[in-house]
Amino acid sequence: MEIIVVKDKFEGGKKAAEIFKQEHDSGAKVFGLATGGTPETTYEQIVASDLDFSDDVSVNLDEYVGLAPDDKQSYHYYMQHHLFDKKPFKKSYLPDGTNLDAKSETKRYSQVIATDPIDLQLLGIGENGHIGFNEPGSAFDSTTSKIHLTDSTIKANSRYFDNYEDVPKYAYSMGIGEIMRAKKILLEAFGKNKAKAVKAMVEGEVTTDVPASILQKHPNVTVIVDEDAASLLN
Ligand code: F6R
Repeated sequence: MEIIVVKDKFEGGKKAAEIFKQEHDSGAKVFGLATGGTPETTYEQIVASDLDFSDDVSVNLDEYVGLAPDDKQSYHYYMQHHLFDKKPFKKSYLPDGTNLDAKSETKRYSQVIATDPIDLQLLGIGENGHIGFNEPGSAFDSTTSKIHLTDSTIKANSRYFDNYEDVPKYAYSMGIGEIMRAKKILLEAFGKNKAKAVKAMVEGEVTTDVPASILQKHPNVTVIVDEDAASLLN
């Protein structure tokens, strides 16, 4: 794992956008994308850059079950607003939150990932060490599945909703096994609230209790952390 410590999320976003550019210039065609607070500065920098994804494919990590693409809390909406409106891809895939038949939706999405293997996967990390929405206890070889979100994740994400009760309790998420098949992984973490998870991911035991710890076994991972998120590292 290569660890890059930056001053703050703005410097982190710049560094991450540079890595997107390098990978794109070296032929990356399929980009795995994340949502949430963490990648916002990265998308701002990408939007401001000359990167052109019109010949490329994006595959997002997750979507809330039950939310339609035009729902302002959906990850479809987030991606449209933060990136796709300004930097469109030839084709963009996200799980379909309106398909309530979990068996068919997870099968469809796993096929998407198998057909378009990911060259560069962008990740954030949950305070509980989750990647995608793969919560503690998820199998390291998991494929796309319907996840019952933990209380910690629902609480963390409730900042985007009017109240806790409004946060969907289930999400479709790319599996850990599928994330691990990406050629390169770029994980970002900003803020003191991520420091414990970052330490467990980088220096802790590889255990399903900390899903991100499996990244220690991936041959090509870059972690961008700000000083706060890096503050517990040895
Ligand atoms: C988002 C995702 C999640 C987030 C994580 C951190 O698509 O898969 O794993 O990356 O929950 O969220 P933020 O960035 O909001 O702290």
